[in-house]
Amino acid sequence: MLITGGNPLMGEVRVSGGKNTAVAVIPATLLCDEPCTIENLPDISDVYALVDILRALGARVDYVPNAFMTVDPRPAEGWQVSYDDSQRLRASYYLLGALLGRRNEAEVYLPGGCAIGARPIDQHLKGFAALGAEVEQLGGRITARADALVGSDVFFDVVTVGGTINVMLAAVKAQGNTTIYNAAKEPHIVDLANFLNSMGAKIKGAGTDVIRIRGQQVLHGTTYAVIPDQIETGTLMIAAAATHGDVVINGCIPTHMDALAAKLLEMGVRVTDSDDAIRVRSNGQHRAVNIKTQVYPGFPTDLQQPMSALLTTAKGTSIIQETIYESRLKHLSEISRMGAQVRIVDRTAIIDGVTDLYGGPITATDLRAGAALVIAGLMAKGVTEIYEPHYIDRGYENIEQKLRSLGAVISREKGE
Ligand code: EPU
Repeated sequence: MLITGGNPLMGEVRVSGGKNTAVAVIPATLLCDEPCTIENLPDISDVYALVDILRALGARVDYVPNAFMTVDPRPAEGWQVSYDDSQRLRASYYLLGALLGRRNEAEVYLPGGCAIGARPIDQHLKGFAALGAEVEQLGGRITARADALVGSDVFFDVVTVGGTINVMLAAVKAQGNTTIYNAAKEPHIVDLANFLNSMGAKIKGAGTDVIRIRGQQVLHGTTYAVIPDQIETGTLMIAAAATHGDVVINGCIPTHMDALAAKLLEMGVRVTDSDDAIRVRSNGQHRAVNIKTQVYPGFPTDLQQPMSALLTTAKGTSIIQETIYESRLKHLSEISRMGAQVRIVDRTAIIDGVTDLYGGPITATDLRAGAALVIAGLMAKGVTEIYEPHYIDRGYENIEQKLRSLGAVISREKGE
């Protein structure tokens, strides 16, 4: 990916549907007893991977990108996801909860996804066991089986987005009531609950730390549009600020962006919003700020990387504390090659703002690291070459096209 920096982003752009909601809602269609239609899905590689997985399980999937996906789960007899398919995306682990809920048995390999530190799934497995499943993990293969899933109390030791979603998936068709304590509160958890409830599931409390689920035997077909992508919205907001531009992001949910908006305001960026749009304007020097990543509604770890790229040119010293993942600061070593002044101690980055970054060759190591490098490239003097840009395609639909429509000079060339 080639970016010629220094062009202020100007104009309006529409945000796509949420990646992290899509990757939960698509497996959830397996719980339905009739066909379901999902709208507003982002056209990203993680969605294609899930289409392949559902088809391999025997479901009929009709996918028209940027229009709809209809899944008829009735012919799906499969219950095993291959190693290759499990490795294609992190969210392949949602097939464990969805298949357990559908047919009381599931086999999935430990998932792939971004290399941002250890990402255990012990809490997911503990939740399945609480619902009565026998869970075995051998050679990276996880098998879960139950004669019947029975609702129960599930207490999470850590707040986990994936664990909360997986237990919800398994519990919606279990016999009796399940209560999840210390649940994650991210917007896509609420969206998944709304999707399942639109099929007739009985889920209350999503968006709080206690979620109550009354198991149902049959779920009916539905048509549902997923929420806009919180992290794409945030990345576009940061890009607008980074280029001292003036951008209106349409089709977003401004309240999901409160933690980021507060930090941008603290930096001296102007952020205003209306019902479903946010305008970000910036024309002066940014001030350094400190960031500590936290579970929702705190500052999201997924925006830490693009935000820390922006802070490399803010006046003063910014301190970034990454509390969710142990290895999510690698992008800063790449941006240091462009002239950023960064010290990394354990999970903390100390950034002394510099006046300018300078373009050069750099390499993306994961999805949001890739987004951070794009921000750095947009700010830098000269041309930035980002290698391994395929990571970015996991989570951002048409990123070049969207940024180009706002005035960025960005393109992609095939590598050797
Ligand atoms: N954790 C455990 N045990 C578990 C599960 C999690 O110790 O059983 C720990 C993890 O190691 C981590 C923390 O709990 O330190 C939070 O992990 P969580 O389960 O919440 O994350 P996740 O479900 O693996 C999702 C998103 C991530 C996002 C995090 C946090 C999806 C597919 N992924 O991951 O998104 O960073 O929640 O919000 O929804 C991304 O989009 O770039 C991305 C990585």
